[in-house]
Amino acid sequence: MIVAEQFEAHLPSVPGLDPNVANSARVWDYWLGGHQYYEADKVMADEIEKVLPDIVAQARADRLFLSRVVEFFAGEAGIGQFLDIGTGLPTSSNTHEVAQRLRPDARVVYVDNDPLVLAHARALLTSTPQGVTAYLDADMHEPDRILDEAAATLDLDRPVAITMLGVVWHIMEDDQARRILGRLTERVAPGSHLAISHQTDEITGERAREAVRMWNRDGTPPGVWRSRRQLEDLFDAVGLELLEPGVVSCNRWRPETVEILPDEVDQFGGVGRKP
Ligand SMILES: C[S@@+](CC[C@H](N)C(=O)[O-])C[C@H]1O[C@@H](n2cnc3c(N)ncnc32)[C@H](O)[C@@H]1O
Repeated sequence: MIVAEQFEAHLPSVPGLDPNVANSARVWDYWLGGHQYYEADKVMADEIEKVLPDIVAQARADRLFLSRVVEFFAGEAGIGQFLDIGTGLPTSSNTHEVAQRLRPDARVVYVDNDPLVLAHARALLTSTPQGVTAYLDADMHEPDRILDEAAATLDLDRPVAITMLGVVWHIMEDDQARRILGRLTERVAPGSHLAISHQTDEITGERAREAVRMWNRDGTPPGVWRSRRQLEDLFDAVGLELLEPGVVSCNRWRPETVEILPDEVDQFGGVGRKP
């Protein structure tokens, strides 16, 4: 077994971080092939992978979905401002890198409430000279605070692309999810978009549900799976028009090639537009 010190030696000492409790940002980083995790994260990640072998493919499909969605926003949708809530640890193709490749003047605000993500925020603040990146240490359950502070960087009277990938599953109750997403979309300009990706049980059924139950026994913060239907209802409830192809396995959302599609994964995603 790899002992903790071997892969923890390079991690910063971070106030508020509990290395003994598996944590969403770090376990996700482990599945993505990163190095920002502790022994407890690895143990939990490996246990979940035994129950749900697709989880690594899910995490990777989610990041590729992020790239395609951000390219869509910066290109076809013509949006130059981004609010990335539940950013995660920096990895390859972070939102500002994808957006600024197409639009060097893109302005990006990252939001996360994890102390290790905050400690690594500098890696997210490498903007082009024409653009801007900013980081907010904030909880998504406070959408007004997020928008008030993001308004220092983003013009909320112009369309904003909001990405909430792999984070809405940490909102346990549907009414809370409607409140948070509703408030975010209410305060941004018409023409704004919201992208969500989310754990579902559409493909792997009981395996996915058991993986979430395992996570909730020892991991933090807790999460829920939602069905495709629940996610469609969420877009509808907050008044967004769901763009084609709707809520689908995120590797089927406008894939780069349709000739050979990868197997569907239980991370579903969709994009809605505020009319
Ligand atoms: C599974 S990771 C997803 C990271 C990234 N968005 C992606 O798709 O690769 C979930 C992220 O959401 C963050 N998160 C969880 N609960 C949050 C909350 N209440 N407010 C803000 N961020 C939160 C975690 O810290 C973590 O970085």
